[in-house]
Amino acid sequence: MKGFEYLQEELDSMKGEGVFRSLVPLESDQGAKVVINGKEVIQLSSNNYLGLTTHPKMKQAAIEAVEKYGAGTGSVRTIAGTFTLHEEFEKKLAEFKHTEATLVLQSGFTANQAILSSILTKDDVVISDALNHASIIDGIRLTKAARKIYKHVDMESLEEALKESGDFRKRLVVTDGVFSMDGNIAPLPEIVELCEKYDALIMVDDAHASGVLGRNGRGTVDHFDLNGRVHIQVGTLSKAIGVLGGYVASTQSVRDYLIHKGRPFLFSTSHPPAVTAACSAAIDVLLEEPELIERLWDNTKFFKKGLQDLGFDTGRSDTPVTPVVVGDEAKAHQLSDKLLEYGVFAQGIAFPTVAKGQARVRTIVTAEHSKEVLQEALDAFEKAGKELNII
Ligand SMILES: Cc1ncc(COP(=O)(O)O)c(C=O)c1O
Repeated sequence: MKGFEYLQEELDSMKGEGVFRSLVPLESDQGAKVVINGKEVIQLSSNNYLGLTTHPKMKQAAIEAVEKYGAGTGSVRTIAGTFTLHEEFEKKLAEFKHTEATLVLQSGFTANQAILSSILTKDDVVISDALNHASIIDGIRLTKAARKIYKHVDMESLEEALKESGDFRKRLVVTDGVFSMDGNIAPLPEIVELCEKYDALIMVDDAHASGVLGRNGRGTVDHFDLNGRVHIQVGTLSKAIGVLGGYVASTQSVRDYLIHKGRPFLFSTSHPPAVTAACSAAIDVLLEEPELIERLWDNTKFFKKGLQDLGFDTGRSDTPVTPVVVGDEAKAHQLSDKLLEYGVFAQGIAFPTVAKGQARVRTIVTAEHSKEVLQEALDAFEKAGKELNII
């Protein structure tokens, strides 16, 4: 069909630069090993931190929900798509998060869009870390509030932004709890202190901290003992929780407001019963099986040290998200391709997901990997890294 030649030209130039990527379909479930092109390889690219995508209790909960309530809900939440299942889960999640209320949305992405686009006006300002996730950036694009960006995790830069914005009605400071491409944890205690000093609201996006940090995986706010001092916590149900969805954990008034003004909530159909039932079972698993989180961290330390001992640059990561920073975009993709050849699936990440010159292979170990499997992966990294003169 004619008309899209201009897109094809851009795609062709991406191919010329070696940065065009094809999707990689999995032929198995999302485990510590997955099948790609008929070959079993070690999975180091998923966000399935705790291995919950295949947890028997969650699969069983999903099956029972389908049998009782069907495959879909047939409506947005505000018309006819709220089931008791949804509300019961939101109450359970609020209790888990130690917040007054939660509201679940279709994804972490839409949770950020809903909150950021709705609660601020042109009289307000949002102050955002320079390396916040794309869903925060896009959410901010939708607000009428003024915007300020502070240097990544730089508290002097944040304080300067707070000082400069004293005339606005409300100031909202937004940060990732764990930065998704670098794996470093936001300095939340300092951010909270500054926000209290300048009477600003705080929002933390805990997508990569949900199920990973804090008691039973409650996130960075709990990790730093800051319960009750952070106004808005966004979490995802799509990563460590192993299913799909996002949520805003905050006050009852924020929940009520989003029900009326959060556009992704208002104008997109609610989660199928199986999704909500599986998410609900996941909270039970977090409470009943804390050893999963212990194993995740044990594997993280082992693998990170292994990469560092081999001479790879793992950046500033202090969580299971461990980048292997290569710099050159084509080289990062070459490393990823070689790893796959040697039995390891670890995706190359390049611009625009990370800054130009900061291309990397991003790894995430899970609680499900055995030490033997992780050592196999380290051996593959050593072989590929030496062949490409990275180490
Ligand atoms: C920091 C952060 N926020 C939000 C999201 C989006 O979450 P979801 O996959 O549930 O849409 C992601 C996922 O990549 C993320 O890393």
